[in-house]
Amino acid sequence: MSAPKDDRPIGVFDSGVGGLTVANALIRRLPGESILYLGDTARLPYGTKSVETVKRYSERNVSFLLDRSVKAVVVACNTASALALDHLDASTPIWGVIQPGAQVAVQHSRGRVGVIATEATVASAAYADAIERLRPEIEVFSRACGLFVPLVEEGWTDDPVTEAVAHRYLAPLLSAEIDTLVLGCTHYPMLRPLLTRIVGPGIALVDSAEAVADAVAAAFGEQRLLPASSASTHHLCLTDTSEGFERTARTILDHEATFERVDV
Ligand code: DGL
Repeated sequence: MSAPKDDRPIGVFDSGVGGLTVANALIRRLPGESILYLGDTARLPYGTKSVETVKRYSERNVSFLLDRSVKAVVVACNTASALALDHLDASTPIWGVIQPGAQVAVQHSRGRVGVIATEATVASAAYADAIERLRPEIEVFSRACGLFVPLVEEGWTDDPVTEAVAHRYLAPLLSAEIDTLVLGCTHYPMLRPLLTRIVGPGIALVDSAEAVADAVAAAFGEQRLLPASSASTHHLCLTDTSEGFERTARTILDHEATFERVDV
């Protein structure tokens, strides 16, 4: 008799389409699995909102995914992971991106970690706290990079304007002689080539999207979460649709997907 299978999708949510970088990483690590993605494009951005608001939005997003019978939830949004993860319905296995990102950062670091993220994530000190719990001797230098999200959404991922902005944001971290840089926002992996050019080869870049995908894949093995049996399908639900969102989503996601406009 063959082992039981579970074809329910993995639910992933983010404030917008940037979290598709996490969906890509999950599909790479768990190729048989289907993704049900919720992008709360109507309420984007989360990174400038209050803790209460981000918690409320995140709770609604999780109930939406659970109502659609996902077998696990991944909070792709760094801001939601930082501010709301501990308050979310844990009746299904749930992961945020902060802890996996912190774990990879401490593996790389020789003692000085830089974290770049939204205003709300930096204010929560979630990465700094997670790193301190793992290796208290590490010094963490955090920097909110508010302009990166709109620049990425504009498609200016390799543009002189973005490069000038990045130089300005990263200057204090480079002066602090960081050895590792955490990309603590869904959009920042798309700036990786530009950021690598600026920080140089001596600083390790930690992508929280890859880190959470590795953590989920490891847990799927350990917790014996049942694998999917058939070919995977990916479905994207957006709370607001526009040509722009769909175009950006198709650019980020490396796979075919169907789209749906939803209310949460
Ligand atoms: N998804 C958010 C994050 O990873 C960035 C975009 C936003 O501010 O909503 O923090």
